[in-house]
Amino acid sequence: MTVRNAGDIIDTILIPEDRLRARIAELGRAISEDYEGRDLLLVSILKGSVIFLSDLMRCITVPHQIDFMAVSSYGVGARISSGVVRIVMDLATSIEGRNVLIVEDIIDTGETLDYITRILRERGPKSLRICTLLNKVERRRVDIPVDYVGFDIPNAYVFGYGLDVDEFHRNLPFVATLRDGATVHGAG
Ligand code: PRP
Repeated sequence: MTVRNAGDIIDTILIPEDRLRARIAELGRAISEDYEGRDLLLVSILKGSVIFLSDLMRCITVPHQIDFMAVSSYGVGARISSGVVRIVMDLATSIEGRNVLIVEDIIDTGETLDYITRILRERGPKSLRICTLLNKVERRRVDIPVDYVGFDIPNAYVFGYGLDVDEFHRNLPFVATLRDGATVHGAG
């Protein structure tokens, strides 16, 4: 079994590097203005959001901390969310009384963030907001109020810039769409 190179499975480059950079700088400016003089904890949802987080936090000019949480849908490897979510790795810090900003790579059905926000709200944060790089509005099943959105995108399978195809190709510096029917694993 071989792993196909990204170039063999890309359909289009949906969001090139320069657009990502420019939009993330805008998000960083907006977040910096909104949290000026306030405590801020960025909560990154692993794994997809790590590249976005690392670029976004360098565009945020107010002091802040970061923490990580990993959740998983049952049915690992499924391309379509199963709608059932569980915590795989919890935050290291208490969020009680803190201004928490969740950083996500993509919101699809909204079920992951519906679960995460319900759990985090119970822990008594001072505020809880959401920042997502990509927003697939057409696929929404749960209405999630999103405070910062990088890009609204169509209902296509996207990968790169943190997002994977079967756990590969998160390292691409742009967001791409997958060629129809393409798989990352090839024979031979
Ligand atoms: C992706 C993404 C969100 C979730 C969104 O994570 O990072 O957490 O799916 O989907 P939803 O709105 O339909 O719930 P994924 O499960 O692919 O894990 P990963 O970040 O580790 O790649």
